[in-house]
Amino acid sequence: MTPPPPLPLPDVVLSAEIPGLPRHATGKVRDIFDLGDALLLVATDRISAFDIVLRQGIPGKGRVLTQLSAFWFENTRAVIENHLLTANDDAIAAALTEAGVKVTDEIAAQLAGRAMLCRKATPLPVEAVVRGYLSGSAWKEYRAQSASGGASVDLWGLGLSPGLRESDRLPEPIFTPSTKATSGHDLPMRPDEAAALLGGFAPVIEDAALRLYRTASERAAERGILLADTKFEFGTLPGSDGFDILLIDEALTPDSSRFWDAAIYEPGKPQPSFDKQFVRDYLESVPGWDKQPPAPDLPPDIVEKTAEKYRDAYHRITGKALPK
Ligand SMILES: Nc1ncnc2c1ncn2[C@@H]1O[C@H](COP(=O)(O)OP(=O)(O)O)[C@@H](O)[C@H]1O
Ligand SMILES: [Mg+2]
Repeated sequence: MTPPPPLPLPDVVLSAEIPGLPRHATGKVRDIFDLGDALLLVATDRISAFDIVLRQGIPGKGRVLTQLSAFWFENTRAVIENHLLTANDDAIAAALTEAGVKVTDEIAAQLAGRAMLCRKATPLPVEAVVRGYLSGSAWKEYRAQSASGGASVDLWGLGLSPGLRESDRLPEPIFTPSTKATSGHDLPMRPDEAAALLGGFAPVIEDAALRLYRTASERAAERGILLADTKFEFGTLPGSDGFDILLIDEALTPDSSRFWDAAIYEPGKPQPSFDKQFVRDYLESVPGWDKQPPAPDLPPDIVEKTAEKYRDAYHRITGKALPK
């Protein structure tokens, strides 16, 4: 007897349901389930813009986030250990079965390509942001502080030379940690504030974040992509000798990074971003919307163009098509 064909993958997964498995948390993008010492991170197709989760999902986006994070976790292990146990669907189904979950075809299809089994860590209370280019909130702050003149621009205690333009490459990548806001925007902090929150972990986190940035930006540059900036999260685990530090969450995806196309890079102005630009541009073009929830609905062509951008980011960086 031939087995029945596998269920087609659902077009859009807005929420993951795994009966029998307790939920650990629900983020803007991920549904997270608790397996004791491990967590199952399921990247849905939810998308947020201006810190608001939109009603429409982006088909395949969650699979891009999971597969790209897995790619980077494999390729940065030499820099720092990370939380990934496996992103293999069969291994994940086996772990779920072991935890007493009945993995139906529906559940398997829902999770396909978008789930990661990870070591459960205690997240450190800082977003470890690294920037190689002057953009976003750092550019706004730099511009505001430059207006008063002076031989150096403080920029959260970093001391940059004056005269840089928007999107300029920085002389050296900079570490600009920010708070983890439970809602709304993360706020930048000065090095002493980060040190107060991170204690003895502060120099380790800064060093790991900068080395991760350098490794990833070199790899991305080979593929014609500039890694303008990115955000890492780290967590701790009790280790043999104190605490081990792990890279956790997602890594070096379009959601946590600004990727620019090197072929059209032109400093002195904002650069088109790889991914959410269509969504942001569309929302900003809607007359009268004040950036408060709920956000306007996305038209189908914006959804499709954005899905294509995410797939393209995966393809450009890994050199491979997104696995089916
Ligand atoms: N290994 C881990 N251990 C504990 N928590 C983790 C781990 N990896 C990621 N997390 C947490 O899971 C959440 C990821 O879900 P996401 O939808 O990206 O959330 P957010 O809306 O905060 O960005 C984050 O709060 C992150 O801190
Ligand atoms: Mg997140």
